[in-house]
Parts: sequence; C-alpha cells; structure tokens
Amino acid sequence: MTRRRSAIGNWKMNGLTANLSDVDQIAAAAAQATCGTGLCLPATLLHVARGRVTMPLGGQDCHASESGAHTGDISAGMLADAGASMVIVGHCERHADHGETNEIVAAKSGAAWNAGLTAILCIGETETQYHTGQTRDVLADQIAGSLPEGANADNTIIAYEPVWAIGTGRTPGIGEIAQTHAFIRSRLPDPSLSILYGGSVNASNAAGIFALADVDGGLVGGASLTAEKFVPIIKALEATS
Ligand code: 13P
Repeated sequence: MTRRRSAIGNWKMNGLTANLSDVDQIAAAAAQATCGTGLCLPATLLHVARGRVTMPLGGQDCHASESGAHTGDISAGMLADAGASMVIVGHCERHADHGETNEIVAAKSGAAWNAGLTAILCIGETETQYHTGQTRDVLADQIAGSLPEGANADNTIIAYEPVWAIGTGRTPGIGEIAQTHAFIRSRLPDPSLSILYGGSVNASNAAGIFALADVDGGLVGGASLTAEKFVPIIKALEATS
C-alpha cells in the first residue's frame, strides 16, 4: 500500500478572522495539489474556515471525553461538527503547558477515532534527551504508551517532532532524520502509517527532508501561517512524491 503523503500546517495559538485570506490562498493551492494537505486551525476559526474552503481542516487538541463538565475544553465530536477531519494529539506544547502524559494522549487518540477524526500523534525527544542519547528509548516509550491498539493508516498519522527543533530554526541532520524515521517505522504496529517530520520545516529545507524514504511529509508550524511560506512547502512535497 502506498503511504499517504501530506503537508499539514499547525497554526497553534495564532490566527484571527483577518487571517482567513491566507486560509483561502492555501486552500486554493491545496485544491491543485497531488499530495495530501491539511490545516490545523485554532478552534475559533474552524467553522468559519469550513464555510469558505474544501481542503482538510483539523483541530490542535481534543478532550478524551465526549462531553461533560470540562470548562474550556473541546471534544473531538465538536471539532468534527465544526468541519474538522483530523486533530493533533500529544503535541509537546501540550505536554509542557498542560502536563499531558502518554496515557492522556492515548485516551485522546481513542476519542479522535470515535468521532471519526484522524489522530495526528506527535512524538519527540527533548534537547537533553537528544544530547544524552535517549532519543530512541523516548520515542519507543511514547509509541508504546500513547498509540492505542487499533491504529491504522486511516485513523492515525505519526508526527516526529524533536522538541528542540520546534520554532528554533534548528533541525537534526538529514541522516539523523532518516535513521530516526526508519526506527519509528520499525516500532509501529502497522508500518503503513504515515510519519511526518515536524520542527523548523521551511521552504529551503523541505525538499531535502521530504525526499527521505521514511518521511511522508511535514507538520509545519511557523511556516504554515501564510500562503507565501506554506504553498512552497506543499509544492516541495508534491515534487518529491
Ligand atoms: P515550527 O515549524 O514552527 O518549528 O513548529 C513545528 C510544530 O510544532 C508543528 O506542530
């Protein structure tokens, strides 16, 4: 089976209705693209964006429960209702800001599946773990602890995001990314799952990263916020597909 290749943007806590023109322009490029695309928008923009564009949209987090007394949280079903087809779970910024554990992330993945969403499960080592040679152990632990049984290429995408590469302009070497992705694939229950790379992807480094055998695309933060920056990344993925 050919693995799904996608360029997915994560807008994080950025974006107001004034920025919807960039969503329109990104969606126009996505409609022409031969690879998969997606934009994980702030929840406040999802429904209005859904009314404007046809490209896949996603949320950035969901609660593990379907509904209930969880002030300020959002359920996977609500994201689906607002027009999302995917949701990021386990992003390291959720680990850092909200103390999320592997167990919580596993429950969120299950909630995403139950709502019919594809879970984009993030894994990645910290800088200290990287420098002390723990990367593989950490990733194996995160896969074992946060990927529920039943993951398949339809309901799950893995995003490898070294914590120290996010928003820093630094990335692992090309050879390191290749080896780490091959390692991740060897640990997946289903090797046909897509594995995206995330962490300081931009128009200059995208083609080299996307050309690697076990890299199936990118999860892009800062460089997904404008069409000017993100469309070249979609094109780089198309060119290496
Ligand atoms: P940057 O592309 O801004 O480094 O962010 C990556 C990321 O965290 C995507 O989820």
